[in-house]
Amino acid sequence: MNASPLTQSIRLNNGVPMPVLGLGVWKTKSGKECKDALHWAFEAGIRHVDTARIYGNEEDVGTAVRESAIPRKDLFITTKLWNGDQKEARKHLELSLRNLGMDYVDLYLIHFPIASTRKQAWKELEKAYKDGLAKSIGVSNYTVPHLEEILSHAEIVPAINQVEFHPFLNQTELSRKCSEHGIVLEAYSPLAHGKRISDPKLVRLAEKYRKTPAQILIRWAIDKGFVVIPKSVRKERIRENSEVFDFALTSEDLAEMETWNENFRTCWDPTGA
Ligand SMILES: NC(=O)c1ccc[n+]([C@@H]2O[C@H](COP(=O)([O-])OP(=O)(O)OC[C@H]3O[C@@H](n4cnc5c(N)ncnc54)[C@H](OP(=O)(O)O)[C@@H]3O)[C@@H](O)[C@H]2O)c1
Repeated sequence: MNASPLTQSIRLNNGVPMPVLGLGVWKTKSGKECKDALHWAFEAGIRHVDTARIYGNEEDVGTAVRESAIPRKDLFITTKLWNGDQKEARKHLELSLRNLGMDYVDLYLIHFPIASTRKQAWKELEKAYKDGLAKSIGVSNYTVPHLEEILSHAEIVPAINQVEFHPFLNQTELSRKCSEHGIVLEAYSPLAHGKRISDPKLVRLAEKYRKTPAQILIRWAIDKGFVVIPKSVRKERIRENSEVFDFALTSEDLAEMETWNENFRTCWDPTGA
């Protein structure tokens, strides 16, 4: 096991530190594929894993954690409440904990803002937080109007809003809204799901820094103050994606990347939900 974990973290609005880089496991197959990915991530120093009930691999995440022998307190594990389960959030968090074989998660998120159930679900998450089942709670796929709604009734302000974010989908108004309210933005699909890795502008920048396009995209998110969770099931890419703490993008290059936005979305669009 790597003796030097990647420790760069960001403090959430409840004081809890969250590692800025994690491993995403959406579309990572249950079984060997998932366990190997976590093993390689831990080897590369990653201590943060992003799963969800709907990914079907919570049990594998739990097994890989136990096999790693890394103390639980040194890990940051996120899972999410699936849409159809929002009416019984507590029950489903407890089920996720059983799947994971853990007595708490570090972060529990409402996966998607379902209009009829999201308010009720947040109340349940607040209770679960107070009871210690989740060390932090947050939301995912919330747009500005969704945030305004939750802020109007929440007793606890979400610690995180996990949304699709990369230079080709640079949601400046949403990111401003999050920072105004002390909500950390967590960038999902930070590699645009692999679809823009050969973009010539990105490749040129990667050559300039002697880094790979994926590393530039991950570093962009970190330099913007986000948490970032690239997914890979390949050992060499997991390592590559972790080697992003030995450089930073210049303010000129960050400014140039601000012009790359195309509202290019690779995952679901929560606008109007
Ligand atoms: N809350 C939500 O609604 C939501 C939605 C989407 C995603 N997420 C979270 O965000 C995580 C990441 O998003 P994502 O999985 O959609 O996409 P992503 O991380 O943007 O991209 C993953 C894709 O890029 C490839 N890849 C990984 N590293 C690479 C590298 N260094 N060079 C070239 N290609 C590379 C992967 O292939 P290989 O695996 O073959 O390497 C995979 O096809 C998910 O796993 C999940 O945890 C959350």
